[in-house]
Order: sequence, then C-alpha cells, then structure tokens
Amino acid sequence: MSEALFAELRTIVGQSNVLTDADMRATYENDWLRQWDGETPCVVRPSSVEEVAAVVRVAAAAGVPIVAQGGNTGLVGGSVPRAGAVLLSLQRLTALGPVDTLALQVTAGAGVTIDALQQHARASGLDFAVDWGARATATVGGAVSTNAGGSRVVRFGTMRAQVMGLQAVLADGSIIDELAGLPKETAGLHLPSLLVGSEGTLAVVTAARLRLVPWYRETAAALVACDSLTDAVLLLSRLRQLPNLDAVELMMPEALSVACEFLGVKPPMDPREAGAFVMVDCAALTDPRDELIELLADLRGVLALGNQREALYRMRDHITIAIGTLGVPLKLDVAVPVAQLDRLVRLIHAAAPGEARVIIFGHLAEGNLHVNIVGAGDASAALRDRVLQAVLDLGGTISAEHGIGVAKVDWLERQKGPVAYGAMRAIKKALDPKNQLNPGVLFASAPRRRRAARG
Ligand code: MLT
Ligand code: ZN
Repeated sequence: MSEALFAELRTIVGQSNVLTDADMRATYENDWLRQWDGETPCVVRPSSVEEVAAVVRVAAAAGVPIVAQGGNTGLVGGSVPRAGAVLLSLQRLTALGPVDTLALQVTAGAGVTIDALQQHARASGLDFAVDWGARATATVGGAVSTNAGGSRVVRFGTMRAQVMGLQAVLADGSIIDELAGLPKETAGLHLPSLLVGSEGTLAVVTAARLRLVPWYRETAAALVACDSLTDAVLLLSRLRQLPNLDAVELMMPEALSVACEFLGVKPPMDPREAGAFVMVDCAALTDPRDELIELLADLRGVLALGNQREALYRMRDHITIAIGTLGVPLKLDVAVPVAQLDRLVRLIHAAAPGEARVIIFGHLAEGNLHVNIVGAGDASAALRDRVLQAVLDLGGTISAEHGIGVAKVDWLERQKGPVAYGAMRAIKKALDPKNQLNPGVLFASAPRRRRAARG
C-alpha cells in the first residue's frame, strides 16, 4: 500500500484512527477463537457514514480491497483481513437514535453492540429481539451482515426479520440511504433485504433501522432432561404450544459438562443421566412460570427462576468459550429439518475419530446444530466435508446463522446449485465489479489462510 494512500486515509479519519503498528493491528487480524488470522497494512476507524464512503472511495481508486469488521465475534473468518486488504473497523459508528414508540423502531449505527441496543430499547419499555452470548461485543453491522440468529429466533425470526431499513456504502463510495423504516413498501427491489446476510460483499452497512418488540421482562426457564435427541425433538411440538415460548436451546450432555467445568459450577442436572437437554425459556408481561410448571409435571426437569435462570443462561452462553479452552475445534453451524437431527448427530459421532471430543449444542426449533469437534487432527478436513455433504443430503443448510465467510466458500455452490449461485455472482459483479469488498468471502477469489484444518 502506498504512502500516499496512508496519507489520504489519515486525512479522512484522523491520524489516530489509522492503525499501522503491528501491536495495534493484532486484535483486528485474529478471530477470537483463534481459528483464522490474516494481515492488514492498516486498520481504519471512521466515525461517520461520510468517512466510510470517503475511505471506500480512496481505497477503490488505489485498487486496495476492504474488509469490514464489527465486533470481530464472527466464527467463519468473514471479517479477518486477507490479501493486503484495508481493515475497515466500524466500531466507532455508535450513534443510537431515539426509540420510536409509535413505529416500534430505532436506528442504530453499525458499531452499536447488541447489548447497548437492548439496553437502549429497554429504557423505553421495548426490546431488541435478536440475542446471543456475544451480545456485549457483537455489533449491529455484523449481525446484519451475517443475518445473525441466536436463541429467540423461534419467536421473532432472524436478523432479516428485524431489519426495516439500511444505510450502506457501495463499492464506489456512494451511499444508499433507506432508513425510513416504512412497515409497508412495495417500491421496487428491497435493497436492505438483499444486503442482510451478504457478509460485507455487496456494500458496507453503516446503520440499520430496526424493529423493536415488547420487553417481556417476566421470565421463567426450565432445563429438561430427555432420554434421547429423538425425545427432545418430540418434545418440541409440545413446547410450541406454550403461549410465551421465547427460546428452545439444545445442549447435548457433553456441552453442558464442558460449560459447567469451565465455569466451575455444578450442573443443574447430571449430564450422565440424559441423552439430550432442552433449555426452555418463556417470557411475558406477566409471570409465565405456570406454563412451565405444568409442562414439567410429567417431564424430568428443573424450573429456573430469577438467579437460577441467569445461571442457566450463563452456562449456555459460555459453551463456545469453554470449548475454545479445549483446543481449536472443527466448528460447523448447520441446520437440517428437525426430524433429521438425530440421523445427523449419529452420523457425526460415527464419522469422528475415536479420540476426538464431539460437543454439540444449538437452537432446537430451527434444527440448527453447532457442531464442535476437538482433537480430530488431520481428519478434520475430510470430516468437515463428510458432515456438510450429509447436511445437504438431509435437505439442510451448510450455514444457519454464522454465515459462509471464507470457511465454507467452497461449499456454497454445492448447496445453492449453479443457477442460484450464478445469480448471486451476477449481483456481486453488478454491485462490486472490481471485487473490492470483502474479496474471498461468499465467492472464492483471494488466498485464504487457515490456522489449522478448521471448520
Ligand atoms: C451460540 O449459539 O452460542 C453461537 O452461535 C456460538 C457458537 O456456535 O459457538
Ligand atoms: Zn447459535
């Protein structure tokens, strides 16, 4: 990268917001689970959409690609810099607009964390529905770009269902401003919908107009022990009858053990005495505990209220970090029709080498499994392909909420087929003809650097 470009970037965002020292760049160049690393000549930290647009423009003029990054909590290498790209950190775009209690919406900058967004909405008696363990660090921009899901999808849908409008910078530096948030609009193509889940490859998302939901502050949770995963799946149709069902999380016994060991707490139920655990959460404006008490009457389970519910969530939220302390896992985020979950899990266990630890958890209602295999060594790459092929054979998806990133780029066409994948490529070419934005993500193009044979 030329000195002239460094100078231009400093003029746009200020000297202190162009980070070139290796020490300063390091946290942006590695992902938090040490699965992926890369290198960037500089991290650029704009504070407004105009600055983002100017950075994109000068980088494009110099032919230097851009990788956008939010909280860097991704799991598929999508925001780790590659191929000499400028790392565009959106963490300073933290503007939060007033909560619109008439429309039930708010406008949030790409760098606003999910936690800050939720607190902001709650101050007005509302809530932001998408939620998962990394809420304190993960940002709105990253959640939009990956179409994040989390634990409340069963009730409110994924990020796509929350996005009412977007502001984004195109590859030539022009700005799309669609933040009106009109609940009904059939005026041509809906670009915000196109950009959700596009993983920074079509535009840089700088702000989002987001749907808010009531803040259901009365909560009750339960942990249910099922004899098998098949029983857990059968339980799901009963759970769907609960009027205030808010989350249905699946934890295979190993996941429960690993999280409790990591936190140094006693598991709420003995992991050896179940084939699968289901964590059920209900949330409402009035105390929903009775519906869970009734449910538990003929099940093996524990009710978790107040601090106990918090402890349950703490355990659920720490599974990923706990697994990370065991080694760098082969990590897959897949979904199959729920009726096929048991087949998939059996296949994974049969395919994994005997010495490996298989730790599976996820979001039961969507058939979404987070598959973590620690210690598969040289077998990792073949194992990954075996599992992904099985997922497709069972009518599933190779990514349910983490995205494709660079991790599964070689599998996307197999899932989509040549026609749909060709259409995606055509859209990419139309919006980013020089492949400036996040090259190598979704569409293979740049060399990838994988630390080991990972997901
Ligand atoms: C979760 O549900 O906790 C996240 O998707 C993280 C993960 O899969 O590790
Ligand atoms: Zn998840």
